[in-house]
Amino acid sequence: MKIFLDTANLKSIKYWASTGLIDGVTTNPTHLSKESGDIKKLVKEICNAVPNGDISVEITETKPDKVYGQAREIATIAKNVIVKIPCHKDYYEVIKTLTDEGISINATLVFTLIQGLFMCKLGVKYISPFVGRWDDIDVNGIEIVEKMRYMIDEYDFEKTKIIAASIRNVKHFHEGIMAGADVVTIPTSVLEKAVSHPLTDIGMKKFLDDWKKLGIKQFP
Ligand code: G3P
Repeated sequence: MKIFLDTANLKSIKYWASTGLIDGVTTNPTHLSKESGDIKKLVKEICNAVPNGDISVEITETKPDKVYGQAREIATIAKNVIVKIPCHKDYYEVIKTLTDEGISINATLVFTLIQGLFMCKLGVKYISPFVGRWDDIDVNGIEIVEKMRYMIDEYDFEKTKIIAASIRNVKHFHEGIMAGADVVTIPTSVLEKAVSHPLTDIGMKKFLDDWKKLGIKQFP
């Protein structure tokens, strides 16, 4: 199970990379719009901050021929870049051409099992079902991850990995693990909550309070 950070904030990425907990990063135009300065330089710095991890960078063109050109450009930014392309029907041919050329694709904005099947058949490296956006409309979003796990294992689409995305809380993170996602991509706010637990804090305090009763200055 891999953990990706769902942000384009370099400071957060560098901190969590130093903890050894994260294995990659997923950016998107919304995340990048929250950062300032030279965006291409920022993307390069993010790739350097997690050199052995996959870094998803999303296209921003809309016309298929422009998407093709931009995707090939993005793929040259660094060796660990994954080109993120929405699984829109207008881009199926482009995605097929790019995967045939050996370019690693993260198919994003995936909402149905059948969209996932199409992307597996086009040979993408990652599919990103959006859990939170289903929950937003009162549909159990994690089910899509469970069904994709079944589909990929049942039909041997082992080339394609599932990234549980649009994770809104620690419960989604937990459910992503139980649903068999290969990766869960989480916002910094969720990771900050996930690393803490009140009973661990209380337990540490009790141990240390009891130890202090012994009045031992040096141990061992
Ligand atoms: O990176 C894509 C995805 O995780 C966005 O999530 O919270 O905007 O639905 P959200």
